[in-house]
This record gives sequence, structure tokens and C-alpha cells, in this order.
Amino acid sequence: MIKSNTYEKICHQIAHSIKKLVNDSEFSVLGLATGSTPIGIYEQLRKMDVDFKKTLTYNLDEYVGLDESHPQSYKYFMNEHLFKHRKFHSNHFPDEKLFPYYDSMIDNSDGIDIQILGIGTNGHIAFNEPGTPRDSKTHIVDLTENTIKDNSRFFDSIDEVPTQARTMGIDTIMRSKEIYLIARGKHKKEILEEAIYGNITPEIPASFLQEHRNLKVYYSD
Ligand code: F6R
Repeated sequence: MIKSNTYEKICHQIAHSIKKLVNDSEFSVLGLATGSTPIGIYEQLRKMDVDFKKTLTYNLDEYVGLDESHPQSYKYFMNEHLFKHRKFHSNHFPDEKLFPYYDSMIDNSDGIDIQILGIGTNGHIAFNEPGTPRDSKTHIVDLTENTIKDNSRFFDSIDEVPTQARTMGIDTIMRSKEIYLIARGKHKKEILEEAIYGNITPEIPASFLQEHRNLKVYYSD
């Protein structure tokens, strides 16, 4: 079921769930997303009195070919929005060095407790583009024209958008214990409804989430 609310309320609610998990657990593992959608959650977390020193994070994806000092790299993004404000046990990205071991590392951390997800206008989750199989693990993808165009808003020109990324696979994401999927903006409404109420198909990677036993879906205009 899709719950509609204001963006502020959705972010507040999710940040509170994260706070509760972290406070109630000896050790916790978060799966984090970048892009415009989760910014409000990180803003809330920065304001909260939570100690993340026993929390590990695994980001969903990272561009291929962007140095971490590039303002559009996802490491840079996470640093700006959260990691430079709050000290965590450790923060991981599927970069060149870690990506072959990413799924084993997550398993060895006892899995992701809470995974935050946005959705692409083509139905992608992380950078699992249409056609990605259900059993995919962390891998390198060629970004679709649609994603390159969508993400060009963050760059000076479309030619600067990387054409490849490293991403958790669908299976990696589905193994998370709890998933929060958030779509913000009227341009995401139709694809969100198709993903959540339509047929389960690799053509809409987010539709696989219907099979997750602990999924919460939020929409705001
Ligand atoms: C980002 C990610 C992507 C975004 C999606 C929506 O780490 O994995 O799947 O969540 O492209 O992006 P925004 O939130 O910018 O609309």
C-alpha cells in the first residue's frame, strides 16, 4: 500500500524509525540512497540526538569514473549531507575496491536492517535499470539514456554525466530486513503505482519489491 503524506512528515517518520533502530540495537546496519529524495531524511537525522558509533552504512550505488572529491560523486554527497556531521562505525560504497566483495560484506554484517530507496522515472531502484534480473548481486551497469538525462540536472552538462555505475543488485536489496521506498513529485506517481500495484516484471525493477515482506512505500507531491 502506498501512503501519501507531506515530504516533511515522511522524512520525519523514517528518520524516527532509524533512530529507534539505532537506539534499540547493540549494532545496526543502514542501506542508504543518494539523489534528491532522501535529503530530508538526512537533514532530520542531523538534528536528532542519536549515537551512530555502532552503526555501519552501505550505500546503494556509486558512479564509475568520478573521483570522491567530485561534488556529484555519491561519497561526496553522503559526506555533505550526513557523514561529516555524524560519526558512524564505518561507511561503505560499492567503489572499485569494494564492489566485488560488497554482498559478502553485507552478509557478514548480518544484513541491512533498514534500506532507504528512491525510484527512477523508469522504475529503477539503485541503478538497477529495466531488464535487471531478480537474482542480481552488486554489479556494474550501463546507465540508460533516461537515467543519464534525469541525472544531468545535477551536472553542468549532460556530457559530464557518467555512463556507468556500480550498484547493489535486486537480490542484494531484497535481502534487507526492512525497506522504505519513497517517491517524491507528480512525475513519479504513475511509475510508483505501476511498480506497487502492477505486474512484477524486470522491466520495472521496483516491482520486485512487491515480494518483500517488510516494505513501506511513501509518496509525496
Ligand atoms: C540513488 C539511487 C537512485 C535514486 C533515483 C531517484 O542512490 O539509487 O535509484 O534513488 O534515481 O533519484 P532522485 O531522488 O534524485 O529523484
